Amino acid sequence: ALSPIDKAKFVAAKQATEYVKSGMKVGLGTGSTAAWMVQCLGELVRDHGLKIKGVPTSSRTAKLARDVGIDVITLDEAKWLDVTIDGTDEYDDDLNLIKGGGGAHLQEKIVATASDRMIVIADASKKVESLGAFPLPVEVIPFGMHTTKALIEETLNGMDVMGREVTQRHVADAPFVSDEGNFILDLHLKRIGNPRELSLILNQIPGVVDNGLFIDTCDVVIVGFADGRVTVRD
Ligand code: A5P
Repeated sequence: ALSPIDKAKFVAAKQATEYVKSGMKVGLGTGSTAAWMVQCLGELVRDHGLKIKGVPTSSRTAKLARDVGIDVITLDEAKWLDVTIDGTDEYDDDLNLIKGGGGAHLQEKIVATASDRMIVIADASKKVESLGAFPLPVEVIPFGMHTTKALIEETLNGMDVMGREVTQRHVADAPFVSDEGNFILDLHLKRIGNPRELSLILNQIPGVVDNGLFIDTCDVVIVGFADGRVTVRD
């Protein structure tokens, strides 16, 4: 049996697959919730004749998609996608998001932006009044990383945020390296007053590749609950 949280993620993921029809090109998100969606799509492909092309947002998702029998192509092969389904770390009332807890937000944002629709799947714990309790991931190129970090810290001084600590993400004592060979800085902001402005300003800093704020990108949030209920926000 699934744990309550996995049940909630699963029912949201399953509901999202109803947006996917044969012939579609589908962006495949990253993370534990998106993994359920990839499993569900795999089942539809294997057992129910669904014909899709999938564009994964990470090496992890690419492997999983192939393992479950989804035909995987690159974004450049697809050029444009019908729909992307992905998880999130936070979403607010305007359907703006913080993503990148798994360090895949750069590819996730490129793929979501290239899609007619982005559908987010989540359990209810991802809903927030204002974004920022979850540390905001910022992908930076390794060259001059400490200089870039200092510039980010200086920039945050002028911004409407509640916390200003910036830490480099590590896994088991080694710097975390993204699929694109970059580092991740986590910005512990607690509360972001103006996510749109912050996103624009961060992305102006040399060395910053992209940040985990998704502004005006998500069209629908499907929220799953442990008792099997699902609600749709759009
Ligand atoms: C990956 O980089 C993230 O953007 C994930 O989509 C996000 O962290 C949600 O992951 P979970 O579904 O595992 O909570």
